[in-house]
Amino acid sequence: MLILGLETSCDETAAAVVAEDRRILSDVVLSQIEDHRPYGGVVPEVAARAHLEHLDRLIGEALAQAGQPLSAMTAIAATGGPGLIGGVMVGVTTAKALAMVAGKPFIAVNHLEGHALSARLSPGLDFPYLLLLVSGGHCQLLAVEGVGNYRRLGATVDDAAGEAFDKVAKLLDLGYPGGPAVERWAEGGDPSRFSLPRPMKGRPGCDFSFSGLKNAVRLLVRDLSDRNELTDGDRADVAAGFQAAVAEVLADRSSRAMTIFAERHPESRRLVVAGGVAANQTLRRSLARAAENGGFTLTAPPLRLCTDNAAMIAWAGLERFRLGGQDGLDFAPRPRWPLDPGAVRLGGAGVKA
Ligand code: KG4
Ligand code: ZN
Repeated sequence: MLILGLETSCDETAAAVVAEDRRILSDVVLSQIEDHRPYGGVVPEVAARAHLEHLDRLIGEALAQAGQPLSAMTAIAATGGPGLIGGVMVGVTTAKALAMVAGKPFIAVNHLEGHALSARLSPGLDFPYLLLLVSGGHCQLLAVEGVGNYRRLGATVDDAAGEAFDKVAKLLDLGYPGGPAVERWAEGGDPSRFSLPRPMKGRPGCDFSFSGLKNAVRLLVRDLSDRNELTDGDRADVAAGFQAAVAEVLADRSSRAMTIFAERHPESRRLVVAGGVAANQTLRRSLARAAENGGFTLTAPPLRLCTDNAAMIAWAGLERFRLGGQDGLDFAPRPRWPLDPGAVRLGGAGVKA
């Protein structure tokens, strides 16, 4: 079984071919960072146009690198949402056209399911497992119980963690994209110089909140700049303090989730972290510590599978297809698409969909 996967839901245009034995035959990713840099963030219209301009070529490259013609694909999968709708439409329309021309099934993949199953591209990860999904658009803790079977234990009530990293980088004028810049600056900083809040830490449930922390950084930067011009030392200390606060909160929420998950699934002790923020080394260290304290092992997919890519979309498509899943050519792209519609939630309360 060979699946061609397409990813166009945010600012990466990507195409990949994945085989049933977990081999990634090709994995082509074009980052649009340079297109969006002048604006300091992702501009949906710019993103959609860039996907349209590059996707056909990237599909050609993905098939060529895999050494396979389109006719050898078992099915064509594309991210069907959630995401920036213009981009999702480009990917879905392209995948449908290829499916129609080649007479192959079409599979619309939930982008979050792509992240949720990405760690299974490495051998040895069976269901169920606990997943911390931390990206620019999402921050959730999920019990992954099977393909299409997800229980949300907690989610952010406001910003995603990656969004907070990006905003703090903007406040400190560290450049774009924000997450890696904050991490670089934090290396030389003192995380204890400023006391920043740890929103939700110690609260019941597994929800997150980052807007208060972001606001605290905004006020701190304003106070510092009122007194003197912000020095590089100030920037490094604020970045380090912010990063430490985020890592501490994510570890605390994950610890609670491990307790709830372990009650439901005493047979599994696996915590998986995915999404772009999972690239952060301070976060990985604090999660590894929390996992160890909870008797869990932490699994983090390789970095290129943590950030947006099409291999995870092809793989999620493959997992669904071999269980009989496929979609009609009338599938409509979905700007919002929760992984667990109507599912019973374990733990906390009050979450944005
Ligand atoms: O998963 P991803 O590539 O795209 C989304 O689905 O959102 O995640 C991108 C997010 C951005 O907010 C970026 O700033 C953040 O992940 N990020 C990081 C790091 N690398 C990327 N955040 C913290 N530390 C990093 N090293
Ligand atoms: Zn993503």
